Amino acid sequence: MNDHEVPPPEALRAAMVDRLREMGAVRSDQVAMAIGTVPRHLFAPNESLTDAYTATSTLETKRDEQGVAVSTVSAAHIQAMMLEQAQVEPGMRVLEIGSGGYNAALLAELVGPSGEVTTVDIDPDVVDRARDCLRAAGYERVNAVLADAEEGVPAHAPYDRVIVTAGAWDIPPAWWDQLTGDGLMVVPLRMRGLTRNIVFARDGDRLVSREYELSTFVAMRGVGAPDERLLQLDGDDVKLRLDGNHPVDVERLRAALAQPRIEAWSGITAAGDGRFDGLNLWWALHLPEFAVIDAKKTAVERGVVAHAWPLGVPAVVGADSIAYLGLRGVTPDRSTCEYGVYGHGPNARTLIDRAIQLIRSWDGSSLDARFTAYPAGTPDDQLPAGLVLDKRHTRVVLSWPGPEGRAEEAGSTE
Ligand SMILES: C[S@@+](CC[C@H](N)C(=O)[O-])C[C@H]1O[C@@H](n2cnc3c(N)ncnc32)[C@H](O)[C@@H]1O
Repeated sequence: MNDHEVPPPEALRAAMVDRLREMGAVRSDQVAMAIGTVPRHLFAPNESLTDAYTATSTLETKRDEQGVAVSTVSAAHIQAMMLEQAQVEPGMRVLEIGSGGYNAALLAELVGPSGEVTTVDIDPDVVDRARDCLRAAGYERVNAVLADAEEGVPAHAPYDRVIVTAGAWDIPPAWWDQLTGDGLMVVPLRMRGLTRNIVFARDGDRLVSREYELSTFVAMRGVGAPDERLLQLDGDDVKLRLDGNHPVDVERLRAALAQPRIEAWSGITAAGDGRFDGLNLWWALHLPEFAVIDAKKTAVERGVVAHAWPLGVPAVVGADSIAYLGLRGVTPDRSTCEYGVYGHGPNARTLIDRAIQLIRSWDGSSLDARFTAYPAGTPDDQLPAGLVLDKRHTRVVLSWPGPEGRAEEAGSTE
């Protein structure tokens, strides 16, 4: 084979599985088998074979009039991560919310001939495309349904697994109702602009998280569309994501961002391995004026913001000022980093002081948050201790069990 020849799909597939194992996205033989079997290129006919089999490439299948991606075949490493989280077994009935075809085919491999996979999408083009691709790849046994997933898919319920592949602002009652008593739900839940890919197990009338990963997904559309706004602070280069109808004066924030940057450092350090998502959640739930800055590299190069992170930078907004989280290496190899805060605007100092206090109150030793979801209307006195985030249908409680709580939990499962 010369340098320009592309290896056959089977070889590319095997190489992608190896890469996904190296990345830690594939951990089990079952998921490796599924990814090694399903011809991903048949679900991305407009992509080159190399792109179709690149572990980290998201394959866009549809954009809206503003050019925002509304449907994709997710990157293979995200799909692998979610399949591992979901622990799908032969014979199970699975509902996938958000269709691309490929992930449904992987699920069909995992549940085998005795199981059943239903995939639902709100977009007729996406469903038609998924059906065509599934047929071409030999997976016509998957049910591809056109509907707003807000109501789930009662016709094929109940489900042992509900796997949501669009950013969900809430957990509608139908998803709980259609989940079996010992079922698992994997959902990229958006909380004040942050997304956590949470595995929930059912526990009576509540859902309790087992584990979570960081992620980002195209947003849910239709009835369950996120109660979020995206404000441009510097054209398309710096955008602010805000939950709900928290009032902000965009013009004044734009003016603030154009003012010189000040900064303060907390003296609190953490391992620089990127696993500081607990602090982001801590900020998000303590600061009513929490927001997320989505910035492009060009904004950093132009000096508008100090940095840009792939999943956004936690921020706090005031009437005429804005502040956001910073991280600087304190060892030459950045294996240890210090948290700080950058600010712009006339009242930046006040925002920075509050944010620094919050960093200092964060117990960085208990990194793993626990999420418990209750139906809306559950009285406060029936909720566990923690920070409460109220959604339309759900009250989500965040708590950090810490080392003692975790030891207790481990003991109680024996
Ligand atoms: C990331 S894509 C799904 C990728 C797919 N699981 C795959 O094979 O990789 C997200 C999909 O969610 C769909 N979606 C958004 N809102 C929805 C809703 N309310 N009900 C059903 N589907 C929805 C979008 O149309 C889009 O196709």
